[in-house]
Parts: sequence; C-alpha cells; structure tokens
Amino acid sequence: MKPDSQNVTDYTNENTIFMVWEFKDNPVVGDAFKKLCKLLINLNNSANVRFPVSRASCVMGIGYEAWLRLQLPVPLPKELAAFAPIVGAKHTAVSTKGDLHFHIRADTTSICYDMASAITDVLSPVAVSTDEIHGFRYWDSRSILGFVDGTENPQGPDRELFSMIGDEDPAYKAGSYLFVQKYIHDLAAWKGLSTEQQEKVIGRSKANDIEMDDDVKPSNSHIALANVGDELKIVRDNMPFGNMSANEMGTYFIAYASTFSTVQKMLNNMFIGLPVGNYDRILDFSTPKTGSLYFVPTFNMIDDFSS
Ligand code: HEM
Repeated sequence: MKPDSQNVTDYTNENTIFMVWEFKDNPVVGDAFKKLCKLLINLNNSANVRFPVSRASCVMGIGYEAWLRLQLPVPLPKELAAFAPIVGAKHTAVSTKGDLHFHIRADTTSICYDMASAITDVLSPVAVSTDEIHGFRYWDSRSILGFVDGTENPQGPDRELFSMIGDEDPAYKAGSYLFVQKYIHDLAAWKGLSTEQQEKVIGRSKANDIEMDDDVKPSNSHIALANVGDELKIVRDNMPFGNMSANEMGTYFIAYASTFSTVQKMLNNMFIGLPVGNYDRILDFSTPKTGSLYFVPTFNMIDDFSS
C-alpha cells in the first residue's frame, strides 16, 4: 500500500462496520469536518501502533454533494458525481444519498466499535447516520449465498494498480473511487434452488469455488457478466450481514477503483444485460437497497482538509 493512501488495498478482515452519514440541512459543517479529518488520521495511526496485527483501519469516502458543501478543492476528482441509477428491464441499481462513508475493518469487533463510536461523537451534532451495517467474515470468506466471494480479486501489486488513481488525474493521484451497494437477498427463493442451479447463477462450484468452463458457464451467470476483461478490474471487499428477525440478510458490496467507469461497465452488464436483456441472474435473488459513489482522498489530502 502506498503510505499516503487510505487502506484501500487491504484484504478482507474478520469484522467490518459500514456507516453512511448525511449532513443536516442547517448547521455549518466545516469545523466538524476538520475535526473529523484529524480524528481519522489519529484513529488509523493509533490502531497501527496499538494493535499492529489486527490490520485495523477506517477508510473515509466523500460524496459529490458533500464535496461541494464542504468547499473542497476544485476542479473535483474527474469522475466524482452523484451516482445515476441504472434501470434495466427487470432490475434497477438505485441511487441513494450519502455525504460521508466509513469502512471500518479489524479482526475484533471492539476496535470497530470504538472507531465508529469516536466518529459518531464528532459527527452527531452536524449529521445523521442513515445506514450502519455490521459485516462479518462468514466461514471461508463466503457470501450469505454460500459461495466464496473475492476469489478473482486482483492480488499483490495489482490491487494498487486497479484501486488507485494514477497519472490521469494528477491532483488526485493515489485517491480512489469507492462504490457501495447494500443488497438484500431473497434467501427463501435462493434456498429453493438446487446446488447445481445455484452454481449456474454464480458460474462457479459451491463447495470448492472452481470456475466453470466457458462452454458450460451460462451467459447470464454473475461472473460471466461481471468479468469485463483482465485490464478492467476493481478491488472488492464485500461483507455479509444478517438480521434474522428483520429478515434482512445481505451482502454489502464495496469496491475501490482507479476509475469509476470500470464499475459502471460491470453494473451495466449486470442490470441492463449483455446483450441487452441478458441480465445477471444473481439479481433475481439480490436487490440493491442503496447505491452511492464516493471519492477516497489520500491522508495528505485529509491532512490539508483538517486545517
Ligand atoms: C465475482 C458475489 C455483486 C463484481 C463474484 C463471486 C461471487 C460474487 C460469489 C465469485 C468469486 C469471486 O471471484 O469473487 C457477489 C454478490 C453480490 C455481487 C453476492 C451482490 C449481491 C457484484 C457487483 C459487482 C461485482 C455489484 C460489480 C459492480 C464482481 C466481479 C467478480 C465477481 C468483477 C469477478 C469476476 C471474474 O473475473 O471472475 N461475486 N457479487 N459483484 N463479482 Fe460479484
């Protein structure tokens, strides 16, 4: 990881808290944001010193409207905009609001809790938390659908290449685009499928996580549509979550990318279909309830924002 960047390249940890915050309408938010920027640097440094083996971190993303309201530098990061919904014939990638997004990771829930709590103390006077998801590592990194999630993620140095902005936008080099969607699964319908049918939805075997051969992999399987080529990758760090009593079991999809256009291409394939109408079968069992794009500044930028 480049020392200046936030922790966008790390591998999935055991526990995660995702938080979305929206600024309240009236208050002046600048001072609280400055305090938050200082806190974020403090939290990350402190976690590294106190719990070096925990791989604990907190990554902050800033939405388009927040960027404007906070009067952060212009011109903006080239692709930072409000996410435009993608409307397919059957399924829609909705767009939802979000000023600040926090991706908190650690091997113990206590560290995640303390980081979230410290952020809440600073933000509560000027903002409201509109979503908070506690994700956990499910067995050998499986989604709640029972399939290993993350296998084809870039590895090693490719993670930096595909997650961080390069020379194409020098003012924002080593920053990232962050795209998130909270999916709720229809597990009753999913469990109604045989294992063989489920494997055709994903395009991989369930027990051993082996990719299907191209001649048997359905063209509407998730990996057939999400794979947009070896040169166009993103770093995913999805986490499952579940609340039985609310019947809300899901996947928090989260991706860091050097360019949002790659994520957009994947989403178009999934929701519109390739060819049009051949949409991703995973969407018949998974509905996105949120969808937002953020920019992830480097620590140097955050340091500038704090003064
Ligand atoms: C692959 C699950 C949404 C992009 C996979 C795999 C699983 C999975 C199980 C196969 C293992 C792996 O390589 O990681 C899910 C679930 C989702 C979801 C449960 C939400 C319901 C998305 C979205 C995108 C995406 C929204 C893109 C915007 C990818 C990519 C791959 C992948 C790029 C690797 C394809 C390849 O090269 O083989 N996903 N995914 N996924 N997914 Fe998803």
